Order: sequence, then structure tokens, then C-alpha cells
Amino acid sequence: MNNKIIVAEVLSEQLKNVLSYDQILSLLENPKSVDHGDIAFPTFLLAKAFRKAPQGIAADLTTQLSSPSFEKVEAVGPYVNFFMSKKMISQTVLHEALSLGNHYGDASIGNHEAIPIDMSSPNIAKPISMGHLRSTVIGNSLGFILEKVGYQPIRINHLGDWGTQFGKLIVAYKKWGSEEAVKAQPINELLRLYVEFHERAEEDKSLEDEARAWFKKLEEDDAEAVHLWKWFREESLKEFNKIYDMLEVSFDSYNGEAFYNDKMDEIVNLLEEKHLLQEDQGADIVDLSQFDLNPALIRKSDGATLYITRDMAAALYRKRTYHFAKSLYVVGNEQTYHFKQLKAVLKEMGFEWADDMYHIPFGLITKDGKKLSTRKGKIVLLEEVLNEAVASAEKQIAEKNPSLINKEEVAKQVGIGAVIFHDLKNDRLNNFDFTLEEVVRFEGETGPYVQYTHARAMSILSKTTFTFDEASTYSLTDDASWEVIKFIQAYPEVILSAAEKYEPSVIAKHAIKLSQAFNKYYANTKILAEDEEKDSRLALVQAVTILLKEDLRLLGLHAPEKM
Ligand code: ARG
Repeated sequence: MNNKIIVAEVLSEQLKNVLSYDQILSLLENPKSVDHGDIAFPTFLLAKAFRKAPQGIAADLTTQLSSPSFEKVEAVGPYVNFFMSKKMISQTVLHEALSLGNHYGDASIGNHEAIPIDMSSPNIAKPISMGHLRSTVIGNSLGFILEKVGYQPIRINHLGDWGTQFGKLIVAYKKWGSEEAVKAQPINELLRLYVEFHERAEEDKSLEDEARAWFKKLEEDDAEAVHLWKWFREESLKEFNKIYDMLEVSFDSYNGEAFYNDKMDEIVNLLEEKHLLQEDQGADIVDLSQFDLNPALIRKSDGATLYITRDMAAALYRKRTYHFAKSLYVVGNEQTYHFKQLKAVLKEMGFEWADDMYHIPFGLITKDGKKLSTRKGKIVLLEEVLNEAVASAEKQIAEKNPSLINKEEVAKQVGIGAVIFHDLKNDRLNNFDFTLEEVVRFEGETGPYVQYTHARAMSILSKTTFTFDEASTYSLTDDASWEVIKFIQAYPEVILSAAEKYEPSVIAKHAIKLSQAFNKYYANTKILAEDEEKDSRLALVQAVTILLKEDLRLLGLHAPEKM
């Protein structure tokens, strides 16, 4: 149980007629310094009711409050400081963590309801970018976190497999491409063709018209156009799947933009019925001025639908198919305006559930200071980054633990895990740059550091025999273990906070702090010493392994037992 709740219960008993339980709870603070105990209660608000200075009230309260949950209660100026009983708390917390195991921290706020997560969603014929990597790993982790609090996540890869760029690709392929070249290196070659198209189109404007004509053919089901499109899509997916396999991410649906082609008419008809469509230079738009937004362009003058039209069809389809409680879109913050418009149009159409759609934006990552632009062909290839990370992990493992049996497997788990962890440890919205050396280090705030701490704790357990016994009590009263206990105690709240904020970094930060606290404990304590507290110390170590492993799982990482 949470310390604030324990303190609030005791205080509300004492202050029954003055403050409500909820008021007390909201007043409680976590003191910055350990010298001020675990929880502090400011008494300013009581001055009026008691007609007394806060200092005096604090002093009085300390003599009146007692509970086996407190080691001591102290007045410091206007504050009442509570020092929780390490014995009581550690006993409850260790028992809870060990008896629930990896279910410790589970919650049921999701009521088994569905929560589609639109994630990854790269564009066919283009490489997966660092941005898509972010969307993939954030979305994947959110899936695990939301599942832990009782939702049923549905991971959807809304592939960018439709749009005018396919017209361009077809033109470029027919003019400057070959089947062999595409087969040999699909994405590279398709990207090369795309880049070549843009270079040449700068000189020769007629290429754009040709591209438009081919896209139109594709929309009209022309056999050659459809054949080429399908082939580009398949070849691209094969390469995307290589990366998903490396990241060990899987999807429940690959329904991309093209899937909604036959669902566009319904959208346009609905808009017409509701008299929402307006003509603007031959195109159809929906006015969104009452939302303070620019009009949404629904259909171009040549009849082609747009990205937003397909997203409207997708939103409706997801509502009908999954009856979602909430619907998430893990997409870079450069698309914030798009999602504002999307929700606004759906609201205009009378779909109140549009309020349950959440854009989960994130900042930009650059590697070694380089930004990404597919157009110009300057691109950091994700597969290369992941391979480099694995190689670097392999090198470090060979130095640290040359006799490790499954070195290759562990190197993969560590190297790829490092990239994922680095991506998730920062608040989503931060922009950041990354260099591989920094990401795959075994020290500092990295994935390998957390994995290494977990392996170290496992190795302590392997040196002895400890089995948790429901009937035994395990408790610790020293200061070093208390720092660890606090992070174990906070776990259920950490999980809820990550779920409510859609923020995997909350989990990553917990994993780092718990690791740091545990390593300090480990350095200063003879864990295996034969005395009456040995089992309690081992219970603490086991709880740490459970939580670190679960933190890593929620982020999409493995927790190797040895490394
Ligand atoms: N394919 C898009 C891109 O790479 C992302 C799609 C995001 N999802 C969506 N439902 N709009 O920019």
C-alpha cells in the first residue's frame, strides 16, 4: 500500500471535523530530503479552524498521532513529518511483490476493453525511418503497459500503401528501373527511383502529370498499375518484417491506407447527407472554422481522396470492428494538426466517440546530428543501426564474460534492447540525438545497465537456495534496503501513471532508479551473510529481479539471466 494513503487514513481519523480524507490526501507531500521522513503534512490550512499558528498545530499533532505504521512522527516548523515503519512497510511490500510475481502492479482500469494502437505505419517503397522506429517501439510498449492495466491492445500497422507517390514510382520504374534491381534490393532501389523522379521532375514538369495519370489508373483498377503496386508493397513488407523480427514486434492488423479504398464512398456520402461538404475550386472541403482549424480537404478536384479521408474511414472502421474504449495514434508531433482536423471532422459528422481518439505525439530523433529526409535520399537506415548495436554489444560481452554460452543471443537482446531502451527512456516529446557508443554502454542510464543489474541479482539468487514462503514474514529495517523498498512499493502507481500518461519513459525511469538503488545496496551489504535477516535480503533481491524483468518486458526488452 501507498504511504500517503496510510498517513491520510491516520490523519483523517484525528482531523475528522476539519478536513476530509481527500483534502488531506491532496495536501500530503513527498519531502525532498530523507531527513524529513517519507511523507510530510503541511498544517497551514488548519490555522483558521484551530485558531493557532501552524507551528503549534504541527507540534500538537505529533503527540496525538500514533500507528504501528510509523517509526516516528516529527514536527519541523509548520510540517508534520512521518517516518514510515521500515519493518511494517518492507514486510507488506515484499510479501505482495513475491506472492504476485510478475502480476505485481497489474490493474483493471481497462475493463478488458479494446484499445487500437495505430503504430509504426511506414510508407511502402521507402525505408523505415527513425521516426517510424519511435512509433513502433512506443506503440509496442504502450500495448504492454495498457494490457497490464486491463485493456486489450490491438496493434495496427496503418501502412502508407496508397497515394500519389505510387504514380511517381510507377513512372520512375518504367523509365529507369528494372525487375532485377528491385528484386535484389527492394527498398534501396525503390528509394533510388523515387529520388531520381524528384531530381528529374525539377527540370521536367511533365513528369508530375505522368505520375498523376498513373495514380489515377491505379485508382481505377488498371491491371498493370495494380500489379506493380502489389509487387512494390510485397517487396517492401518483406524488408519491414526483417526489422520487426529484430525488434520482436508483431501486429494484429496490417490494414493500411489502401484497405480503405472501398470505404471512401461511405465517408463522402455521409458528409453529403449532413451537408458538410463545400466546393472549393472543384475540390470538396469541410469547413472547420468553429474549431479554429483550416478546412479539411476531403477530395481533390480530380476525385482522388486524401490521407485524411482514409483516416476518417479507418477511424469509423475501428469503432465498428473493435468497439474501442480509446483509440490511439502513435505518430510524430509534426502530424498534430492532421489529427486535430481528423477529430474535428468526425465530431462535425456527429461521431461523439471522436473524443476517445488520442494522438500520442513524439519528438524527432536524429543520429549523429543527421536529420532524415527521404526525398533527398539522406537516410539513416534502421537495419544498419540495429546491426551495429548488436555488434557493439557482442564486443562488450566478449570482454566482460568471454565464457558466456549463448553469447550471440544475448548480444542481440542487449544490442537491440539498448536501442529500444534509449528511445523509450526520454519523455516522448523530447527531441534527441543519438550516438551508438552512448546507447550500448553498460554503465549510465541505459538498457544494458538495467539488464546487467537484473543478471547480477539473478546471479546472487543462483548462489543459494531461496524459495518464497507465503507463511513467512520478510522484513528489513536498514537504510540501504529502504531505498530499494521504496521503488518496489511505488510500482503499482508507476504502472498506472505510465498508462494514464501514455508514457513508457515512466517505466524506463523506474527501471533505472530501481537499478541504481539496488546496485548501491549490493555494494554496501553482505547479502549472503549467514544471519537471521538473510532470507529477507534474498526476498528483496528476488523482488528486484521480478520488477526489473517486468519493467524490461513492458518496454519490449528481454532480461537475460546471464550476461
Ligand atoms: N504513413 C504515415 C507516415 O509515415 C504515418 C501514418 C500514421 N497513422 C495514421 N493513421 N495516419 O507519415
